[in-house]
Amino acid sequence: MANAQNLVPNADPRSDWEGEVFETMFPVKSTLDIDSCSVTVGEETGKANAASIFLRKGFVILRGALSADQVDELQETCKKLYGSVGRLDPEGQGNRNPGRYSFGAITPSGQCLHLRAFLHLLQVDFIHEILGQIYQVNVNSKGPVISGTESGYLVHAAGGDFCTGATWEFQKLHSDMRPAQPLKGKGFGKFANSPIHSKSSPPLISANFVIQELTPWNGAMRIIPWSEMYDYCGSNLLQPAPELEEEYWHRKNWLKSKIFPLKPGDCILRDIRVWHGGCPNLSGEPRFLPSMEVCSRAYHCYLKETQPDSRKARAALPLKLYEGLDAAGKSLTVHLVTDGKQDVDLHIEDYTWLKRASELTSPPRDCYDMSLYKFMKDNHHEIIMMLQALHREGAERGFVNPSELLALQSLHPKLYAMASEWFATQAPEGVGVRAKQNRWNSRRCDQGRWTARRA
Ligand SMILES: [Fe+2]
Repeated sequence: MANAQNLVPNADPRSDWEGEVFETMFPVKSTLDIDSCSVTVGEETGKANAASIFLRKGFVILRGALSADQVDELQETCKKLYGSVGRLDPEGQGNRNPGRYSFGAITPSGQCLHLRAFLHLLQVDFIHEILGQIYQVNVNSKGPVISGTESGYLVHAAGGDFCTGATWEFQKLHSDMRPAQPLKGKGFGKFANSPIHSKSSPPLISANFVIQELTPWNGAMRIIPWSEMYDYCGSNLLQPAPELEEEYWHRKNWLKSKIFPLKPGDCILRDIRVWHGGCPNLSGEPRFLPSMEVCSRAYHCYLKETQPDSRKARAALPLKLYEGLDAAGKSLTVHLVTDGKQDVDLHIEDYTWLKRASELTSPPRDCYDMSLYKFMKDNHHEIIMMLQALHREGAERGFVNPSELLALQSLHPKLYAMASEWFATQAPEGVGVRAKQNRWNSRRCDQGRWTARRA
């Protein structure tokens, strides 16, 4: 591995280093071939295709999983939670990295099952059909039919993550279950016999739901398919994911392997052991990614036996909300329902029911420092916010004015060229560039903005 001391290049003002930093942090095109990982919900062969892509790559993108109404309700819920968190943590310290939060880790129950919008995530038929194929469960029109003790899956959690619109840093690539060894297929030490290593039977699958457009600018997650993880590990299949600095110098394309563009309503179905990481969001607007997690029945039984007091084993679904679920929903969540007399039963739809401020934040789990951050300048935040606002306004009216893009040219000529090219590729279904004069209005950039933080 290269020595971090020797990695910082000379900041030659004549070089194009600044442009490279921009291109690394905010590539206008992902290095991930999104189309080859995507399936449209409702397609004739969609279910089988999706399961096959998932098992081959470790994830699959489902286009159009949520209705517009469900997206609206989730947006409203996430914004309310975001507002409550902002009041307790105005500096955006986060509970993952600066500016990054897990939804589950902000609530006393460790879940968001007391908020109705999150319950919609448990009831998307197409997703259960795919999960049925992955876990080889019989699924009928009423939902999954779970039988036996060694097959099937259950709902594990509802939560997800969000980051503020002033998040400068990448998050290190990681598996959400670090003791699991899916590349090797078997573990060691105290995890040798736990049901977490088989690649074909994931212990946990997360369905991350997109509720706002994901663009090059607003912190889409990056993800690494199984095949590339194998390639990186070579003969040492137990190797952990690279540190950020190593990723930059030896797998730069991974920093750009972001899952975008995505539309509201899309879903990323992900084996939580596939390496993934957060990316900078300087768009000025928070990026939300609410989720539902399911676990294999084998892993559920293992947890019950080995960690009966763990946060995720606690009853967190209020009885009143459970009673409103259909039969399939009930069968998947029966282990999470309360007796109606728990704390969480008193906080249905309570967006202010959060941990105390002192417990809401936590120190970073991994090092998030990178030498390239020192080449970022304060006006880069302004530029990215401008690009994001251009995109949003362009999406609303169907085109972006060249005159507005020109405002970028004086700030950063290379980025202007990159952005022009990107907006041009979005036409005609997305955002195209059209010749029409209109003044740039930067005031909208300030909405929902938290204090910018620097490493
Ligand atoms: Fe993660």
